[in-house]
Amino acid sequence: MARPGPGLKRELKRPYEVRADPARNFGDLDNNAHLGQTSRPFARAGVVASILVLNGPNLNLLGTREPAVYGRDTLADLERAVIGWGRALGLAVDCRQSNSELALIEAVHAAKAAGTSYIVINPGGFTHTSVALRDALAAVSIPFVEVHLSNVHARESFRRHSYFSDAATGVVCGFGLQGYRFALEAIAQRLGARPEAEEAEEIQTGI
Ligand code: DQA
Repeated sequence: MARPGPGLKRELKRPYEVRADPARNFGDLDNNAHLGQTSRPFARAGVVASILVLNGPNLNLLGTREPAVYGRDTLADLERAVIGWGRALGLAVDCRQSNSELALIEAVHAAKAAGTSYIVINPGGFTHTSVALRDALAAVSIPFVEVHLSNVHARESFRRHSYFSDAATGVVCGFGLQGYRFALEAIAQRLGARPEAEEAEEIQTGI
């Protein structure tokens, strides 16, 4: 295979950048305006992988909801952090939360139309009940990581069953907000795996 020229080598220095058609990528999922942040600058810069971070029911109450279990950070804190972590990794993150199964399913459908590369989902209580939300993820064929703030395996037995885990790329639970960061890091690595490998080869061969 031909060695990459100097131009390509420079491009690969941004390891997590995934080329995509920005017109397809951002659709109507740019819903971070209320946080004073937006994914659209990424599109203008010609980057990038678009990630949907979807939070389910009652996660709008973070900060006051059972703080001993879920911590004191609010949903706005979570979304701000997630967008920042995404930006550092070269991922454009859109955040959505809903208490409605219908709205969550429709957000998953919209993610397909928008060309979203990966979904990070905390389905909240729907984790343990929703065949329909699981079906939506299967229907759009967008890979996803399941995240839970709490360690669901150390709680009531009904929380040990998830309708999502067997279909997920991976599951993170028990690390609070940091779990979302771990999910984004894993996604960035997956999406950037090839460029990183090529860079490693360049270093070894000195080219
Ligand atoms: C949760 C765990 C679920 O069992 C629960 O219903 C939630 C939050 C978590 O993030 O730990 O709403 O998904």
